[in-house]
Amino acid sequence: APSVNRRLWTVDDVKQTLPSRDDHSHKGSHGRGLVIGGSVLMPGSAAMTSRAALRSGAGLVAIATEEGAVPSISPYIQEATFVQRDTLDLSAYDGVAAGMGIGRGEASQELIRHAVTHTDVPLLIDADGLYVLKDFLGELEKRTAPTILTPHPGEFAHLTGLSIKEVLLSPFSLAEAFARRYGVYLVLKGPSTIITAPDGEQRVDATGNAGLAKGGSGDALAGILLSMLMQSTSTLDGLSSGCVLHGYTADQLVQQGHSKVDLLATDVIDGLSHTFRTLS
Ligand code: APR
Ligand code: MG
Repeated sequence: APSVNRRLWTVDDVKQTLPSRDDHSHKGSHGRGLVIGGSVLMPGSAAMTSRAALRSGAGLVAIATEEGAVPSISPYIQEATFVQRDTLDLSAYDGVAAGMGIGRGEASQELIRHAVTHTDVPLLIDADGLYVLKDFLGELEKRTAPTILTPHPGEFAHLTGLSIKEVLLSPFSLAEAFARRYGVYLVLKGPSTIITAPDGEQRVDATGNAGLAKGGSGDALAGILLSMLMQSTSTLDGLSSGCVLHGYTADQLVQQGHSKVDLLATDVIDGLSHTFRTLS
């Protein structure tokens, strides 16, 4: 029988691997992140991703977005700065999260292509970014820094050309085959989330609840993952812990103060305060 390299990643694992914040650290020690996201019609995505990254410990976050979206994003995240989208220098960052709320047009595709072909900066691609990535998946193999794709089953179906039903029937083997083929970390989201490394090693995050089944949850997760990615020595550990931090925070919130009905992604982002205070 083939050996299966797969295990559950729990809150205890998070505790044991959480990046430390020592007394002498400065903002540069915790990662300079870039969020390529948001647009005039979807400004909240970039605000939530960058806020979640900062709430998860990132030292600095810059946002590259459509110029007209800046006034709608900035009031929701005063700690972030903005950079021009058409003259992006990715080498200035320790990690990039791209694709949330950017739309699926030509300009978005060029942005994602620019990020992917800048091969030596860790890059996470989500949402619309995954949609436009489909046309040049082969470019992923040339990257030297970690690439992280965070699809839900619909997005993974789009990337693989399979149906959602097929994806849901064999998520573990499909995720493993995809991660190996393109040399990427794949975070296949859902009620249980499967995190796969390029070598096929898998982790399962079983935290979270139906309160997360609401627009914005994925944007919050992307920000948490960006931060963890920049601060972890092991990318697989960092991503696994990021997924658990997201789900565990939602679980804590629906036990106290919130319900699965009213929970918002922004509640989860702010709930990270309690999670980090109790886990670290
Ligand atoms: N139980 C546990 N976790 C859940 C559940 C559940 N029932 N439902 C959702 N989640 C978690 C997932 O594991 C994931 O971390 O919530 C997050 C949802 O992420 P997405 O599916 O990306 O959802 P969302 O933020 O709403 O993004 C929707 O993505 O595909 C685009 O165009 C689409 O704009 C839309 C956006
Ligand atoms: Mg999403």
